[in-house]
Amino acid sequence: MALLPIITAPDPRLKIKARSVLEVDAKVRRLMDDMVETMYQAIGVGLAAPQVGSAMRVVVVDVARDGQPPQPMRIANPEILWRSEAMVLANEGCLSLPEHYADVERPAEIRLRYLDHENEIREIEAKGMLATCLQHEIDHLDGLLFVDHISTLKRGIILRKLAKLKRSRVLAPV
Ligand code: NI
Repeated sequence: MALLPIITAPDPRLKIKARSVLEVDAKVRRLMDDMVETMYQAIGVGLAAPQVGSAMRVVVVDVARDGQPPQPMRIANPEILWRSEAMVLANEGCLSLPEHYADVERPAEIRLRYLDHENEIREIEAKGMLATCLQHEIDHLDGLLFVDHISTLKRGIILRKLAKLKRSRVLAPV
């Protein structure tokens, strides 16, 4: 397994629409494994392939709480089959928007179909943090970040701060 560099916003690679995988073969499994390792290293609960520069519809999540055994999910071609009418507000962060958080409202429960790491079709129902996290990661596959769900004003503030941070890193003397 290998650690992959995580792309931070603003970056055009985070705005693409990722393409479906034909099947979960050894190459896709390798990407999934690398993404799980990268997510743990970054202390995240989810990661989508575009965040590591791969334009494939692949995400990994693990919402196990501290002290619980890891429960990584490796997901390809996720498809939300149903969303509850009930909405829930959660404070979201993103490894591509480091140190920024905002309250985002999303459907509280979803039903999801996807291909697992063995190329088997699976269907699950998710609620709570898992439902929020899955929707956040699936958004990444369509070029959406959590800031696209908040006000233009707040989004502008966060993206300008991140752009400034990037420029200062590039220009900083070594
Ligand atoms: Ni994210």
